[in-house]
Parts: sequence; structure tokens; C-alpha cells
Amino acid sequence: MSELLNVSKSIDLYTRACELIPAGSQTNSKRPSGYAPGAYPVYFASAKGCRITDIDGNSYIDYVLGLGPITLGYCYEPMDAAIREQLGKGIIAGLLSPLEVEVAEKVCEMVPCAEMARYMKGGAEGTTAAARIARGFTGREIILNSGYRGWADTWAAQAGNPGVPKAFEGTIFGFPRDDLDALEGLLKQHAGNVAMISVDVAGGTAAPREVVEGYRRLADEHDTILMFDEIVSGFRMARGGGQEWYGVTPDLAVFAKGVANGMPLAVVCGRRDIMEAGADFIISITYGGEALSLAAASACLDIYKAEPVQEQMWKQGEKLGKAFAASAANSGVPFKCHGPSCMHSMSFDYEDRELSARVWTLFLQEAARRGVLLRRGGLMFITYSHDDEAVEETIAAVDAVMPIIAEAVDAGDVDARLHTGEVQQSFRTFVR
Ligand SMILES: Cc1ncc(COP(=O)(O)O)c(C=O)c1O
Repeated sequence: MSELLNVSKSIDLYTRACELIPAGSQTNSKRPSGYAPGAYPVYFASAKGCRITDIDGNSYIDYVLGLGPITLGYCYEPMDAAIREQLGKGIIAGLLSPLEVEVAEKVCEMVPCAEMARYMKGGAEGTTAAARIARGFTGREIILNSGYRGWADTWAAQAGNPGVPKAFEGTIFGFPRDDLDALEGLLKQHAGNVAMISVDVAGGTAAPREVVEGYRRLADEHDTILMFDEIVSGFRMARGGGQEWYGVTPDLAVFAKGVANGMPLAVVCGRRDIMEAGADFIISITYGGEALSLAAASACLDIYKAEPVQEQMWKQGEKLGKAFAASAANSGVPFKCHGPSCMHSMSFDYEDRELSARVWTLFLQEAARRGVLLRRGGLMFITYSHDDEAVEETIAAVDAVMPIIAEAVDAGDVDARLHTGEVQQSFRTFVR
């Protein structure tokens, strides 16, 4: 194996991109500066199943997967066939698509809280529509929120980001996800004016069951709407999302990444009375009934219903998590896999946090050299196409990397082993 991964075409193209595209990328979490810049690919040329090839011709087993939307696998044939078939009939029209009804029926069958459903394109659009519906339905302003819901003003106001009008201040308050006392305190403080509690029950780690049950209890006690952001947990933790897995039914939910195996579709769904009220608020997008994504969603939901997709993700994730932990333990590396095994998050737990961050960079660099793409901290997404062969290859790669990390930390030469530019975890500053 050569000392360096050749990603020179990626680097050249990214240099051009930074002249033309602010920060070179459309997605903060895809910015190369957050990975192992210079020693990790930037651009993909093609992808199939669980494998992706970069523009320099290197091939990898992928656990980043577009940050979650790919659930079945890249270019998954039944999905591509459904998209091709619809392509032959048209993408969008002034008339509605029958697929709008077909997908809503499938969502309402699969998702516990869904009595009605409507479509958006991205996650932020979905969560922002849910906020508009909750505020309009209740006639109240305040949202109590834990975690990232997207880039829109509604959510960005929580951290006071540049460009968000001051008028949004005081319309949203954050709480630590598992802290029911903090949530209850906010509910009392803003009694009578809370439109909605919004949470992602599985962000990073799965929330304890009693906490998720506590959300439901507190929402009922304070007569407010409970919304689950299922953009990541949806169709991964279980067919019906985190709400099915926990057995706790929210009033509203938003799904996006897992709906259509990479085609851009978000689903806002929930209680009939709330959803119906939302029909009269200004929530309307040109592309809501775009038929390629709906055809993909329809095919995807059929596959979820018929095949053990989620079971495979949990099973392969568990094998990977156990094997990574064993390799780390053998080498004396303080490493952990957390959260649901269908989408593990991972940590290096050196006392020196700076060292942990640099070790992450070394881990990403050395795993990429051995043909495995991981993401700092996880989430380590898995698809239905991650077969045993891919899992074994990944385990062998990580087994080779852990001793290198141990050696580098012992020798105090982690930095000397990095073939990277400056690492910036820019996304962290965006969410508080
Ligand atoms: C839990 C969660 N909610 C909302 C979003 C926003 O989705 P989008 O980037 O599609 O707007 C994300 C994106 O990563 C997310 O992970």
C-alpha cells in the first residue's frame, strides 16, 4: 500500500470549486475540512451498492452515504427501474400525480402517527412546515427544541446565527435532549404559549425510553404538540421510525433522508386534525408533487414492507461495532461505538480532547487508505447492500488502523503521520 492516498484530482477540483462556490460545498457536513483534508476523497465519480469510486479512481466501502439518504444502496436496481419508468411518463405537471396519493397511503400504513401526509423536498423544509402547522393550529408562538432541525430562520434563531432577524429571538428555546426537568421548566416558564416540542429521539445516541415517554407525558400535561424529527431515525431504526421503535406516538413527524433512497423527498405527517388545519396556512412548494421522487418513495416503501432492510442495518452495524471495539481494546485505544447499531456514532475518548480530534483525523485518513469511508464521530450509516463481504473488509481495515493509532499516540507523533491540511469542524458552531 502506498504511503499516500492519491486524491490529487479531487484536490484540484475542490480548489476550483472554492473560487466559484462559497466554501466549495452545498452542505456544511460535506466540507472536506471536516474530514482529513488532502488525505480523503472529495468528489465521487460513481457508486453502486455500498461502494463508491472517487474521481481519482479509488474505490471505497461507504458509511457516509450522502449523510444518510441512501438506505438500500447506490443505484439499487428496483429503485432505478421505478425512477426510469416514471421518467418516461414525465417529471412534473400542472395536474397532480397519482403517486401523491399512493405514497401517502403507504406512509399512513407504515408510520404510527400518520393519519395524513404531505410532501416537501428537504428536511429543513419539512421541519419548518411542521413548525408553521403547529403554530397556526395552536395559535401559539414558542417552540421548545432539542437539536438540529435545518438551516431555516425558525431553527437558526435558537443559536442566534448571522442573518436571522432579531424579531425571531424568544420564539424558540433549546433544551438538552435527555433533560426532562429542563423541558418541564421551559414549559412552565412559557405556560400557555408553547406551540410545539420538537426532538430527534435518536440523534447521536438513542434517547432513554423513559425520556421519550416523558416527552409524550409533558406534551399532554401542557396541552402542546409533540413533533419527532425522524429525518435520520425514520426508516432506519424501524420501518415506522423511532416512534415505532419506542412505542411512543408523536402528534407530528417529519421524515426525509430515508424516504426515497437518495431522491429528494420529505414527508410531514401526523394527526388528522392538525394536518388538516395546516391546509389553510401558507405552505406550498412547486416541486411538492415531483413524480420521480414520489415514484422512488413508492418503490422504496414497498421494499421496506417486503424485505428485512432495517433488520440488516441493525445486524451489520452490530457486527461492525463489536469488531471495532474489540480491535480498539486489543490495541489499548479508548474508542467506543454509541447509539443504535443501525447508525452508530463513535468516539475516541482520550482525556486530551485535542488529541482525540487529531486521532479522528488519523483514523479517517488510514481507513480511507484501506478503502473505507467513515465520518468524524459517525453517524456510521449502513445500507441494505452492506453485505457480509463488505463488513468483513471493513473490519479488517479498521483492525489494521487501531494499532497504528496506538503506536502514534504512544510515540507522540500523531501529527507527523497526518498527510492533511487544517481540519475545521465548522458545523459544530452552527448548532447549540
Ligand atoms: C435530524 C435532522 N433534522 C433536520 C435536518 C435538515 O435536513 P436537510 O439538510 O435535508 O434540510 C438534518 C440534516 O442533516 C438532520 O440530521
